[in-house]
Formats: sequence, structure tokens, C-alpha cells
Amino acid sequence: MMTSQSQAKEKLHHVTSVVTEPEDNVKFYDEWAETFDELSKLGYRNIDGLDASQKSLDVAARKDIMNELICVWVDDKTIKIASDCYDGLICVGGFVPGHLHSDCFDEWIRIVKPGGVIVNVLRQQWLDEYEPYANNQLEDDMKQKERSMKWELIQRGNFDGGDQQWKMAVFIHKVL
Ligand SMILES: C[S@@+](CC[C@H](N)C(=O)[O-])C[C@H]1O[C@@H](n2cnc3c(N)ncnc32)[C@H](O)[C@@H]1O
Repeated sequence: MMTSQSQAKEKLHHVTSVVTEPEDNVKFYDEWAETFDELSKLGYRNIDGLDASQKSLDVAARKDIMNELICVWVDDKTIKIASDCYDGLICVGGFVPGHLHSDCFDEWIRIVKPGGVIVNVLRQQWLDEYEPYANNQLEDDMKQKERSMKWELIQRGNFDGGDQQWKMAVFIHKVL
């Protein structure tokens, strides 16, 4: 019998290697929502959640730990969120093949207050291998926003994640 960890690994392999269209991506996470929960409890209380999978948001709603739950596929289009309204934005595992791309950075920066922090955690493997991110493409897109004074890099690092099975990359920017 497969362990839940190996099942999760298999599902992630599927979504990162087979699923490419936004609708398929949403369907995939909708079906997985009930059992997918890698969130850490950090003690913050004033949190909104955003995801393209309504089922994932439904599961989050039942935990009663978030205020607004916003269902939207994020790309370069304007999200229905006011400008400068968040102190911070955290994206964990959103930069995965077929998921988010650097075209969302302007929207991230728009909705976070000047001086607020944006944390982006992704697998180092995708930075190295996924064509739209690889060959420093994703990092160059971040640097472009640094050069145009949209945000400032506070920290860039790596850590072992996913129960030590993946090398994770973390980028922390301050909105200017
Ligand atoms: C690998 S899961 C990570 C979930 C969660 N952040 C965690 O770490 O446990 C990726 C999530 O991103 C969502 N997602 C993927 N692409 C998206 C997009 N373009 N806009 C909004 N959500 C997206 C999926 O629905 C899924 O819930």
C-alpha cells in the first residue's frame, strides 16, 4: 500500500509533468483538496487565502482560520483586490510547471503595501529545469522589477522542504 507521502509525490509528479491547461490544473487540485494540507500554523490571525481551486478554498473555509477566500486563476490580469491592501503575501508551491509565471509579479506588488513583504517559495528543481523559469529566466524577471524599483530583494536562500525530500528556494522581497 502506498503511503500518503508517496501518493502526494506521485500526484505532484503528475501535475508537474502532465497537467498544462489552467482548467485541468484547477480540476486536479479540486479533486485533491480534501487531503492536501501542507500548511504550517504560524499563529497569524488576519489572513486571506487565494487559490484557483474552489474545493481547496472550501476545505480552508472549514478550518475557519482565514477571512476572505478568493478563487481566481492568477496571471497577468488584474485581480479584484484593492491596491496596497496587504502587509505581506506568501506563495508556497505556486511556481510549479503550468502554474504561476512571472507575469503575476506586477499584481503581487500592486496589492501589497509599500514596505510590505512578498515571500515566494518554490522547488529549486523548477528553477533549474522548467523552461519558463530556468536559465535564470525567473530570477532575471525578479531582477527586472528590482531595477525598475518595484521591489527590493531582502533575502534569497535554500532549505530542505517536503520532509527533506526537495531542495526549496525562497525569495523575499520588500515592496517599494
Ligand atoms: C502545489 S499546490 C501548493 C498549495 C499550498 N500553497 C501549499 O503549499 O500547501 C499549488 C496550488 O496552487 C494553485 N494554483 C496553481 N496555479 C494557480 C494560479 N495560476 N492561480 C491561482 N492558484 C493557482 C493550485 O490550485 C494549488 O492549490
